[in-house]
Amino acid sequence: MVSQFELQVPIYNAAGCKCTTKEDLNNIASSSAGAIQTKSCTLAKRSGNQPPKYWDNGTISINSNGLENEGYQFYLDYANEYSQSINASNQKPIILSVAGLSLDDNTKIITDTLKNNSIYALELNLSCPNIGGIPVSSDVEVFNEYLNNIISATSYNHSAKPIGLKLPVYTTRWHFEKVSHLVNKYDISFITCSNSMPNCLQFEHINNPGEDIMTSKPVILNKLGGGGGGEFMKGIVLGQIYQFRNQLSENVKIVMCGGIRYGMDCYEGQLAGANYFQVGTQYMVEGTSCFDRI
Ligand code: DHB
Repeated sequence: MVSQFELQVPIYNAAGCKCTTKEDLNNIASSSAGAIQTKSCTLAKRSGNQPPKYWDNGTISINSNGLENEGYQFYLDYANEYSQSINASNQKPIILSVAGLSLDDNTKIITDTLKNNSIYALELNLSCPNIGGIPVSSDVEVFNEYLNNIISATSYNHSAKPIGLKLPVYTTRWHFEKVSHLVNKYDISFITCSNSMPNCLQFEHINNPGEDIMTSKPVILNKLGGGGGGEFMKGIVLGQIYQFRNQLSENVKIVMCGGIRYGMDCYEGQLAGANYFQVGTQYMVEGTSCFDRI
């Protein structure tokens, strides 16, 4: 039996957005978010890229975080502590975002997570745009082999925990067909559309007082930020959701991630076929009150 991905409250944070530290996770825990999604984690703790690595102007954002995270064991321990400290009926589901740097790393992380009853579900992120190389989920052949290997190497128990995939933005009908086939074939419980937009570049312009010359520079140190997000992503992710909804089995849930600022955006997500909603840039801008307001 494949366990269904079910949330009682449909709106929660996107992985990567203020969900790295214990304080971040506690803030989400005490908000109206429907789940606590962790930062994408690796086997070992990482400090990520050098700052500045995040920028927003209130409606759009760019990040080149570089997988800064506390290491997966920290998040498993946090989940245990959380589930012991809060009455079961008030607990939010915890979703572990997994972005191990190799198949072996992901196998280890997933195997250990399957044994942890305090983690509700896994969101496997094979589309991180900030670590170089071709993301696994961008090449359908590689993606197929990777999923095949990970499901068999972990003897993935689908009845124990839903597993979802955080997908990159796809641009061809061929990709939607092929990736839908993989999602159906490997009993994936949910997909998240979409990861942030690779290869974004933003400049800031500074007028120095008393000088005629304006200085302009990229807003983040690495210049190209893997992850563009915010308002401009909404139309893109609505199209992704619509394409996938028409090709996925009915029991596969779709999580909208991109450009959600208002309840109306979620309504449009539902029209396209989404079941649940992650808030990224708007949560960075507004803090946890966005979950209540939206
Ligand atoms: C990072 C960025 C992402 O968009 C993502 O999906 C995972 C990780 C990062 O740079 O840390």
